[in-house]
Amino acid sequence: MIDLSTRYLGLSLANPLVCSAGPLCETLDNIRRMEDAGAAAVVLHSLFEEQITVESSQLDRDLSHGAESYAEAVSYFPDMQSYQIGPDAYLEHVRRAKAAVRIPVIGSLNGVSTGGWIAYARKIEEAGADALELNVYYIPTDPDMTAEEVEWRYVDLVRDVKASVGIPVAVKLGHTFSAPANLARRLDRAGADALVLFNRFYLPDFDLENLEVVPHLTLSSSYELLVRLHWVAILHGHVRPDLAVTGGVHTARDVLKAMMAGARVAMMTSALLQQGIEHLTAVREGLLDWMGAHEYESIRQMQGSMSYRSVRDPAAFERANYMKVLSSYALRAGPGPGPA
Ligand SMILES: Cc1cc2nc3c(=O)[nH]c(=O)nc-3n(C[C@H](O)[C@H](O)[C@H](O)COP(=O)(O)O)c2cc1C
Repeated sequence: MIDLSTRYLGLSLANPLVCSAGPLCETLDNIRRMEDAGAAAVVLHSLFEEQITVESSQLDRDLSHGAESYAEAVSYFPDMQSYQIGPDAYLEHVRRAKAAVRIPVIGSLNGVSTGGWIAYARKIEEAGADALELNVYYIPTDPDMTAEEVEWRYVDLVRDVKASVGIPVAVKLGHTFSAPANLARRLDRAGADALVLFNRFYLPDFDLENLEVVPHLTLSSSYELLVRLHWVAILHGHVRPDLAVTGGVHTARDVLKAMMAGARVAMMTSALLQQGIEHLTAVREGLLDWMGAHEYESIRQMQGSMSYRSVRDPAAFERANYMKVLSSYALRAGPGPGPA
């Protein structure tokens, strides 16, 4: 009997498949389908700092100027129109999701600053969430801001959130740091219980006809997994927080790679948006088939087996690999078409 179980954020999970925060988690019906299809846990879509601050400024304005000022407040956040669900409705969603399924439900807070809004971490805990994921989606556009200052934002936020809740806290990060391993260690010291690697940044595109900058969202492919594997493999064994992979997990092979790099769980959103929630069942079966064929007895047995610390040639993760890769391409590709 192959054992798929894993531990993440102090939770015992039946397998490493977790649905990451996204639009599919907005309905209870989908969350039930995720459980039925084999998800071991679900991260709810985020409650955004802007949703909380807009709602509290709405309340202030309503009290002093009348309700029509809300339209003005939300106009600062054009995208807020599509995030209809306010903080109270979010908390209710956490409560209902907990009542609807047996798998752990992880709440998600998305923001960049410490402040009153993080009181919602406590409220999400009180609503019954088993853990909290903190998504720090921050784009430092100010040229006067140093890397050190950017990193302190993350560390301060994690410390403040940890001080206000008793449930485990995961931190979801982007990958554009100068020294990711050092930041991981500082987040570890600030109390992070897991690091979720990595956020995908949604890069705006240009509309050439209207000369506008337009939002642009593409779903991921398995290729995006590679940067996650790289950093999970490097961090495994060097920091205390559990590691989770988000980004580019589409197939059973992707999940196996994430486990071998050293992740406790592999999260999916794009794959489920593209192929449907029931794709989880195929991924779970794919895990069992591969592990059976390769005589693995458990997921735990493979976790970290391909990490920086475990592989025979850790230079493969470093600069040494860079020259090797470049030269191997030149050899394989051979001479290209010559000048016309
Ligand atoms: C439409 C959409 C909505 C998302 N909403 C959230 C969100 O509310 N909070 C969050 O932390 N991540 C959100 N994500 C990011 C996903 O949780 C995930 O980290 C990312 O899509 C990379 O994983 P994937 O390659 O499996 O899609 C969203 C992704 C998509 C595609």
